[in-house]
Amino acid sequence: MGETKTVGVVGAGTMGAGIVQVALTGGCDVRLFDAAPGAAIRAKAAIAGRIDRLAEKGTLDAAAAAAAKERLTIVDDLAGLAPCGVVVEAVVEDLAVKHAVFTMLEAHCAPDAILASNTSSIPIARIAQALRHRGRVAGMHFFNPVPVMRLVEIIAGPDTEPAVATALAALGKRFGRVPVIVKDAPGFLVNLGGRAFGSEGLAIVHEGAATPEQVDQVMRDCCHFRMGPFELMDLTGIDVNHPVSEIIWQGYYNDPRLRTTPYHRSLREAGRLGRKTGQGHFAYDAAGNRTPGAVPPLPAAPVATRAVLLDVSTPLAELMAGAEMVAHDDGESPLLVSPVGEDCSTVAARLGVDHRRLVAVDLLCDISKRVTLMTAPGADPAMLGAVAARIAGNGRAVTAIKDSPGFIQQRVRAMVANLGCEMAQIGIAAPADIDTAMQLGLNYPQGPLAMADAMGVATVHAILAALQAATGDDRYRPSQWLRRRAQLGLPAATPA
Ligand SMILES: NC(=O)c1ccc[n+]([C@@H]2O[C@H](COP(=O)([O-])OP(=O)(O)OC[C@H]3O[C@@H](n4cnc5c(N)ncnc54)[C@H](O)[C@@H]3O)[C@@H](O)[C@H]2O)c1
Repeated sequence: MGETKTVGVVGAGTMGAGIVQVALTGGCDVRLFDAAPGAAIRAKAAIAGRIDRLAEKGTLDAAAAAAAKERLTIVDDLAGLAPCGVVVEAVVEDLAVKHAVFTMLEAHCAPDAILASNTSSIPIARIAQALRHRGRVAGMHFFNPVPVMRLVEIIAGPDTEPAVATALAALGKRFGRVPVIVKDAPGFLVNLGGRAFGSEGLAIVHEGAATPEQVDQVMRDCCHFRMGPFELMDLTGIDVNHPVSEIIWQGYYNDPRLRTTPYHRSLREAGRLGRKTGQGHFAYDAAGNRTPGAVPPLPAAPVATRAVLLDVSTPLAELMAGAEMVAHDDGESPLLVSPVGEDCSTVAARLGVDHRRLVAVDLLCDISKRVTLMTAPGADPAMLGAVAARIAGNGRAVTAIKDSPGFIQQRVRAMVANLGCEMAQIGIAAPADIDTAMQLGLNYPQGPLAMADAMGVATVHAILAALQAATGDDRYRPSQWLRRRAQLGLPAATPA
């Protein structure tokens, strides 16, 4: 392997400049090339400014900051990268441009120099096709903004020599990042794993079960996601996340688990791209403040004084504190259930109870702030209103949705967990690395396998099986990885 102390960076844009910064603060000598006149010089000034601010804040001592800035050299062409042991390419996401860069790098750099690409969507195998010596090509996929996001995916293509991936992982650590070795597959790890959260939120809205605002409120308040799927899509930009969704779905030969909805595409076609255009799933004012989205009003009704508990449940009784709870149907009171993966219609049919009085409560999450209620078609609004008033009176916000197998959060989290399990099954990365990457790359409260364990592996399996049975949609088919661990009572991360 080449000497990794001297690192070349091609492309001085958003990502290239960030990569240069962490390489410098990691103690490397960096040689930077950008084809656009003046771009590298401008990046150099911006990087120096950011390093100075780190020194002002005390994150970096003054001598280290001065030395870091000294270690950056701008070069006029790719031949100037000849002394580098590793070159990281961060030019535009265009295969022809990347091929041209890599061919030149192969011509100029030492035969054992590592050539890495920061591509977010182009398979490493496709980039390496242009080269004679493909074993030294790998992905080194950073996240934006590079100095803040600690994760780096090291992507090993079919031809990448294991020592190359190992050397890039060591370099990633030197850059102060957390490296995770990932298989060369559509979306790599984080962009693939991140599909479930948004696409299941979209599926719920597509079915008319809830609004984007309701989905976001539940995922924040009941599951501790920092952002709901819709505000997240608006932040990343529909012009980014819709094409990424399509590329990954197509890359997995139209696997329905990865399918997005027509509504997602229509937003992109309408130019409603999220925060950047002032309108996406939500509207934003000139100062960037989000206008709250629609939430259907709760039906007005006198507070419930009595309810029938169809499930024996302490949390349900606590939520309804103040109302008389009875175990046998009195023919007039709301009927309370807490289904796992089933919708109200299925529960009513299974139990043979009056669907008009049935109110389902999602207990499979944190219910200290917000409670999700669900009713069947034809339900009596007074029943929902009475139960909602009682729960609200007991200090919880209430989200009332239409019939949905798995409410909101059961299905969203089950889909996130299932995709994490599928990534483990197909060897995208080691199970522990899947959780690390998803937490660091997406700020999830837990990685998907830890999420499966927190919900219960068998419970996640049951939610998905019920969703698949109710919808007939293979989108909800459980991963074999999940099924086996559910059948055997094992934790989600148990190796194969
Ligand atoms: N922006 C992100 O959030 C993000 C995240 C991860 C990965 N990526 C990937 O990183 C790469 C760069 O993205 P970016 O957002 O920094 O783009 P950018 O447009 O900000 O920067 C690209 C830079 O490459 C330069 N360039 C173009 N062709 C060149 C060539 N032939 N030789 C040398 N320089 C050339 C441009 O002048 C420009 O300065 C892309 O592959 C992208 O998919 C981007």
